[in-house]
Amino acid sequence: MSAAEHGGGLIAGDPGDYFPHQPVLYQEVLEALAPESGKAYLDGTLGAGGHAEGILKASAPRGRLLGLDLDPEALAIARQRLFGFMDRAILRQASYREAARVLAEIGWDQVDGVLLDLGVSSMQVDRPERGFSFMAEGPLDMRFDPESGPSAADLVNTLAEEALADIIYEFGEERYSRRIARAIVGARPIQTTQELAALIEKAVPPGYDRRIHPATRTFQALRIATNHELDVIGEALPALVGCLNSGGRIAVISFHSLEDRIVKQYFQRESRDCICPPEQPVCTCGHTAILKVLTRKPVRATEEEINKNPRARSAKLRVAEKI
Ligand SMILES: C[S@@+](CC[C@H](N)C(=O)[O-])C[C@H]1O[C@@H](n2cnc3c(N)ncnc32)[C@H](O)[C@@H]1O
Repeated sequence: MSAAEHGGGLIAGDPGDYFPHQPVLYQEVLEALAPESGKAYLDGTLGAGGHAEGILKASAPRGRLLGLDLDPEALAIARQRLFGFMDRAILRQASYREAARVLAEIGWDQVDGVLLDLGVSSMQVDRPERGFSFMAEGPLDMRFDPESGPSAADLVNTLAEEALADIIYEFGEERYSRRIARAIVGARPIQTTQELAALIEKAVPPGYDRRIHPATRTFQALRIATNHELDVIGEALPALVGCLNSGGRIAVISFHSLEDRIVKQYFQRESRDCICPPEQPVCTCGHTAILKVLTRKPVRATEEEINKNPRARSAKLRVAEKI
């Protein structure tokens, strides 16, 4: 996926100079959360603070927002953007999976709205030194928090061939995962984005569908694995819903089917009073619904938005309300 497909295109020397585009599904998120003065909101993936700014404006004069991001560069940019709101906003470097702990630390009980805008931001993709994009040469890093945990290069250079192939297949839905993993293991050590991209290009057969770059799926897979993205979303959803007041809403924007499926299945399950197998005549599960799903089908970007920001094409917004 190119930087342009991420809605990027602005490259700045200092992250604070970066004034990004309108966030994805901006109006739709505001309609979903319907922010009000006096209420509290959690943006678990603050990024450049575009959605957060909208929530703070719409909940003036007394709405509060806690913004979390793993990426210190994103926080620096959001801090600039939200400068005029810092009497009502708290920004912290943390994973959204730790939201309950951070809320307790700042003395907030519960919140009235939660937003997750998952994945990578255009400003991360546009910075070659972060290693998310194969369009520019950079270290193969891909960590949202560049200080923590193994990088994509660590995975690529240490995992067994089979484990690597499984990651590329499962998280990239790449049918040539085994070939690619074999080529990677044969060429180790691999340190840079373009080294890996060139290797993948050579490893796939001539008939490969080139509507997307052959490295696209493998890069997605490595990013998901490096940041444990699917485990984090699956684990965090119950905790985040646990932080919501009754009547509060959770809105999640996902960018690929793997994460959308996790959100959809969680919402479906938690909106049912019984989760016994259908063939069982009497309910024994004792499960009660805690959510009302407000989006039977995910909300998609309009053609107009997609024309301005091609990254919006794959965005899906799902919203639920705590009962
Ligand atoms: C698509 S961007 C969000 C853009 C944002 N909504 C805006 O309006 O600018 C996603 C952000 O989520 C962050 N992120 C990814 N996983 C995270 C996690 N587990 N916890 C906190 N932030 C995370 C990334 O670092 C990135 O900055």
